[in-house]
Amino acid sequence: MTERGGVVVLDFGGQYTQLIARRIREQQVFSSILPCTAPLEEIRKLEPVGMVLSGGPSSVYDAGAPVCDPQVLQLGVPVLGICYGMQWIAKQLGGKVEKAERREYGPARLEVQNGASEPDSALFSGLPKSLRIWSSHGDNVLALPAGFRATGRTENAVAATEDSQRKIYAVQFHPEVKHTERGRDILRNFLFQVCGATPTWSGAAFIHETVEAIRRKAGACGAICALSGGVDSTVAAVLVHRAIGDQLTNVFVNTGLLRKNEFVQTLEMLRERLRLNVIGVDATERFLTQLKGVEDPEEKRRRIGREFIAVFAEKARELQGEAAHEKIKYLVQGTLYPDVIESVSVKGPSATIKTHHNVGGLPENMPFQLIEPLRDLFKDEVRRIGRELGLPEEILVKHPFPGPGLAVRLLGEVTHEDLERLREADAIVVEEIRRAGLYEKVWQAFAVLLPVRSVGVMGDFRTYGKTVGVRVVESDDAMTADWVRLPPEVLERISTRIVNEVAGVTRVVYDISSKPPGTIEWE
Ligand code: XMP
Repeated sequence: MTERGGVVVLDFGGQYTQLIARRIREQQVFSSILPCTAPLEEIRKLEPVGMVLSGGPSSVYDAGAPVCDPQVLQLGVPVLGICYGMQWIAKQLGGKVEKAERREYGPARLEVQNGASEPDSALFSGLPKSLRIWSSHGDNVLALPAGFRATGRTENAVAATEDSQRKIYAVQFHPEVKHTERGRDILRNFLFQVCGATPTWSGAAFIHETVEAIRRKAGACGAICALSGGVDSTVAAVLVHRAIGDQLTNVFVNTGLLRKNEFVQTLEMLRERLRLNVIGVDATERFLTQLKGVEDPEEKRRRIGREFIAVFAEKARELQGEAAHEKIKYLVQGTLYPDVIESVSVKGPSATIKTHHNVGGLPENMPFQLIEPLRDLFKDEVRRIGRELGLPEEILVKHPFPGPGLAVRLLGEVTHEDLERLREADAIVVEEIRRAGLYEKVWQAFAVLLPVRSVGVMGDFRTYGKTVGVRVVESDDAMTADWVRLPPEVLERISTRIVNEVAGVTRVVYDISSKPPGTIEWE
């Protein structure tokens, strides 16, 4: 959804780009990210009060190094360049950038400097003269462009510069990461002192603007929402419902890949407690037929994505006859920013990590246009919006669950029998994590069924069964994650119960990989 008067972050492919946007929203100023190659027109449409040029992995002298339209520096909108953003500005405006003799990765000390006769930099207003900062760069700005002055240095390089006349500011370090002391205040100074932004963005403002924007876009048509009862799709459905009322039909598909009792319980909650108009479709056999003989995870996702769309298209056709749904033109999805960034290569250049999330799994020629009202947000931001919308707490704290469901937690071919095993094991993991009071403290807790068989002994019999992996991770936004140091007695209860209660499983292992280099899911 587009909101005017915010700050546009132009992405040069930096690993912290999304953090910049989020830090800005934390100051109640709307922020969205565009690829650095975005045409000026697209930027202008957003009527930004400021722009941030992100960091990136390249050197400005690399062949194919990402660039923006140089006119972004002439829009009359204040600009803050960060890291690569600073180097690009310096080079673009006639300064000199060179490979650093000593590269700076990690902590460094910034000495804020203002010439005796010069006014203090607005960027560092009210801050100490010496700050611990976080850097990650191999190039330095050796000569500043005309009109610029250095406002901060590290031991090795110019670390902050500005041309306050043209309102172009740049820093070589990362104010958006927590390791930079007073980084939040540096961004705050840019937003309020330099850009004159107004801190009006809030959950309520987001809800209001988003509902209005959806009404303008889809008010005359019908929409169908892929609802799963997770926080993302439920918040998306409630927003669209507020915008177009009964022109929205929610469809909750039982793919046969859901968790234990999930289909029935979730349907009941969505209908009874949220009063949403939801059609439940049991398509278990269709999905399992599609997955027969398929072992490759990406192929599983593609087939599931295709089948989802086929089910929605059929439902939409069925509904066409009913007056309120004359033209079902839109498909509503609860896609979040991390889904977007990990799934599509923003042609600008954050690297594609996987092609698997909501956005990645959809077929190219879909009979729908997408409405994705949460596309710019992170999970914790969506939870706050959900709270503001009055959604029940049990939805807000629910762990994320992938669209392809248990298919990507059951390694190898998906069969009815293994799905039942996995469902039981998964329910035990979640039950025990809840019982230990940990459910709301961890990001995700689940079981994975591995195709590894091993020997065991039960009673006086030799057994030869499958292995369950237990994965419990903490994370802020799923971009990075760490395994949770569970108390041994919780691990013990999980393990004992799984081996005793799930037929055909003889061994339980605990996954101690972080992300990166692992991912949260196993497939
Ligand atoms: P990974 O495994 O990439 O997962 O570290 C990051 C987050 O995304 C969820 N996930 C998915 N969500 N479709 C989805 O809707 C998918 O194909 C998918 N794969 C992973 C995962 O559960 C975690 O929260």
